[in-house]
Amino acid sequence: MTIAVYPGSFDPVTLGHLDIIERASRVVDRLIVGVLNNSMKTPMFTVAERVELLKRVTGAIPNVEVRSFGGLLVDFAHETGASVIVRGLRAVTDFEYELQMSQTNRKIAPDVDTVFFTTNLEYAYLSSSIVKEVAMYEGNISEFVSPEVEQAIWEKIKSSEKKGSL
Ligand code: PNS
Repeated sequence: MTIAVYPGSFDPVTLGHLDIIERASRVVDRLIVGVLNNSMKTPMFTVAERVELLKRVTGAIPNVEVRSFGGLLVDFAHETGASVIVRGLRAVTDFEYELQMSQTNRKIAPDVDTVFFTTNLEYAYLSSSIVKEVAMYEGNISEFVSPEVEQAIWEKIKSSEKKGSL
């Protein structure tokens, strides 16, 4: 049985992430999506909210589960019994960081391998930061995120405007 972890910040999950989750879930037996705790200084969503959104958008895929994790990714992989780390590669600009991260992880944990999925061309430009930037200026984000996530973003922006933050 092959167990894989798909780690990230997911602030919030985009259609690009979802595409990787769907494709990876077809090639492994169990896919655990791991939301990194405290990875960002000013996230839009709390870790609990990100986990909840991911659960909602992946609910129909039976071999996918969503958890949060802290500390080293390879420790999370060991805890979950995963032998594979899944990452998406959008463009050559992702490559250097991803190579460094996968080589470091392999040095620390030689029993865990990183497998890269090339992002669907349709989502090659997409990132959570771009989605937040467009949303901040009230642009159309319906082609970037699923409807549940879109609604959560608008609600978050509305409530932050009321509070005077964001
Ligand atoms: O989606 P992101 O923000 O690019 O994901 C980055 C992530 C979560 C994969 C990376 O920051 C990570 O694995 N952090 C956990 C700490 C760790 O293990 N660092 C060493 C890897 S070089």
